[in-house]
Amino acid sequence: MSDYLRELFSLDGRRALVTGGSSGIGYAMAEAIGRAGAEVVIVARRQAALDEALAGLRRHGVTASAISADLGDRDAVQRVCDEAGHIDILVNDAANNIRKPMAELTLDDYEQTIAVNLTAPYLLGQHFGPRMAERGWGRIINVGSQQTVSAFGDSGVYGAAKAGIAGLTRSQAEAWSRHGVQVNTIIPGFVLTPLTAPAQAIPGRTEQLAARHMVGRNGVPADFAGAAVFLSSDACGFVTGQMLFVDGGFAVH
Ligand SMILES: NC(=O)c1ccc[n+]([C@@H]2O[C@H](COP(=O)([O-])OP(=O)(O)OC[C@H]3O[C@@H](n4cnc5c(N)ncnc54)[C@H](OP(=O)(O)O)[C@@H]3O)[C@@H](O)[C@H]2O)c1
Repeated sequence: MSDYLRELFSLDGRRALVTGGSSGIGYAMAEAIGRAGAEVVIVARRQAALDEALAGLRRHGVTASAISADLGDRDAVQRVCDEAGHIDILVNDAANNIRKPMAELTLDDYEQTIAVNLTAPYLLGQHFGPRMAERGWGRIINVGSQQTVSAFGDSGVYGAAKAGIAGLTRSQAEAWSRHGVQVNTIIPGFVLTPLTAPAQAIPGRTEQLAARHMVGRNGVPADFAGAAVFLSSDACGFVTGQMLFVDGGFAVH
């Protein structure tokens, strides 16, 4: 890397926590942030998937560790805060996606979705944000969805939580940006990951969605590498409270 690019984008000496870092978009962002120089801590429930992700990260020379935790459980979120230690970059990627017709959603569906997709990002932000602000440098990347800005295929409570993520981002940015903590939301398009397996299984759906992206294809996890590094870096020092659409033009088509 040239000295100029290093100055803009290097994450050497930083420490990142990436929830959902064992799979899909979260893994791709963890790998990118790690390969840009940061030490990475990934969080998810399944230990086997965490171990596989750690092996992948280490193959790229990334210093990485994992915490197994269910982010729908507030005690487990607190344990993540305690075990993670010093964190400069927080990536709130983990989410569930219960997409039933609105009238069929149960209270349990609602509570589980809000707990994992909105309360956990809030609580992790409440723990790490003030500590970053105190040190005068930090980055928070929250992961939204097309449902952050528009209804799309049984948005349900997932849509409500993902709309909340953009508001949370603005509130966090308002609170901490002046202390060097820049907070932004990434909005993916339709990305081929385990989360979207049910939609991918519907005949013709993948092709139909590919055509809705201006670039003419669906997203893959690697599409998020550049945005993750940018939003984690010094280059993003004057970018905060924003939604960055990494969606191949889906939202504007
Ligand atoms: N794929 C898309 O088209 C798309 C579009 C818009 C937005 N997004 C957003 O992008 C993010 C990543 O999605 P993805 O498609 O990459 O999904 P994915 O491949 O299914 O990965 C989800 C990750 O979150 C973890 N996770 C889920 N529930 C958790 C819980 N209760 N506690 C801790 N970890 C949990 C999973 O691990 P465990 O299951 O082991 O816990 C896994 O590491 C999500 O915020 C999603 O809403 C995705």
